[in-house]
Amino acid sequence: MQVYLDNSATTPVDNGVREAMEPFWQEHFGNPSSPHHLGVEAENALSQCRRFLAQSFGVKPSELFFTSGGTEANNLAILGFGRNQRTPAHIITTSIEHPSVLHPIANLAADYGWQVTKLDVDQQGLIDLDDFAQAIRPETRFISIMLVNNEIGAVQDFSQISNIITAKSQLFNNKIIFHADACQALGVIPINILKHKIDLLSLSGHKIFGPKGTGLLYCSEQVKLKPLVFGGGQENGMRSGTENLPGIIGFTKACQLALQNNNLAMLTKLRERLVSKLKLIPKCYINSTKDCAPHIVNVRFSGIKAEVLIHFLEQKGVYVSMGAACSSKRPSVSHVLQAIGLTKEEAASSIRISLSTKLSDTDIDYAAEVIKTAVDEIRTIYG
Ligand SMILES: Cc1ncc(COP(=O)(O)O)c(C=O)c1O
Repeated sequence: MQVYLDNSATTPVDNGVREAMEPFWQEHFGNPSSPHHLGVEAENALSQCRRFLAQSFGVKPSELFFTSGGTEANNLAILGFGRNQRTPAHIITTSIEHPSVLHPIANLAADYGWQVTKLDVDQQGLIDLDDFAQAIRPETRFISIMLVNNEIGAVQDFSQISNIITAKSQLFNNKIIFHADACQALGVIPINILKHKIDLLSLSGHKIFGPKGTGLLYCSEQVKLKPLVFGGGQENGMRSGTENLPGIIGFTKACQLALQNNNLAMLTKLRERLVSKLKLIPKCYINSTKDCAPHIVNVRFSGIKAEVLIHFLEQKGVYVSMGAACSSKRPSVSHVLQAIGLTKEEAASSIRISLSTKLSDTDIDYAAEVIKTAVDEIRTIYG
């Protein structure tokens, strides 16, 4: 039996997504920029995707830019804004952002002279709203906060955050740009671009059963970005390069599927089932609180090295990870787990289990049993 519990790292492409993409490899393969009918057909398909997504998120088609994923969307949002300003200003983010947010911000600081405030989080991975309000200064121009964290699933309070940004923008008579990395939120919790007055929002396709190398940046028409890639002027000049039409078709279909189901309720049930079983294992501590997004359960087993546990589980067909996919192969202490107050030893004994709606109760029961057996065995072997 195989149970894949690393869905926050990536997901397999859904059959419906694969079928939607199929005609765009060989039949409708035109370049959307070509003047003949194959090009027009491709351009129409591209526009249809943009219109559908715009309608789904309640925004304008001209505010959507297809990218190669969440990483590029985050880079375009942050560097595209920062490099477009005449003078450096102040930027606020959190200590638990994805590297594709933290690194471009570090670049703005190092190469362009921006000042950065990185907000700490509490044990649940949440920023303190008073600290956040205090951190906003007259020279603050940009705020980047993820909606759902990719290692522990912490969900920031976007209603309050948005109210604070609006109030401070008014107080300082200065438009503050709000960027949200929502890569782990899509298909799990609602994304309210307009209600939360989000100016820039990043999404990734391969976390929601879409193809890898696909993503989207929403950029409000009020915000001007400097492109990172120059060339033929595709994507309204924001991202040159021939469009990845099969990928965009797949991304759009994956979004449609992710948004139409009540994934939150189903994932919550699966999480509760899993957590209730894990809690029966001695010295098991759940790092993700119950208010976290339901698809991510970060858990630790005292005295057990996560690396060892992961390999034991793999042998029984259960796939989990140590944290963010991009850092799992380079074992270092997770900045997120340290930020929520775990010691290095505790962080090193933590695994991330990430769920999807494709899992059944039987899968969860099998995985929980395998985890229990593995933990028992490792404790017997290593004492
Ligand atoms: C929160 C978050 N942001 C951004 C990304 C990057 O997305 P992509 O893999 O599509 O570049 C990820 C993926 O791991 C993520 O979890």
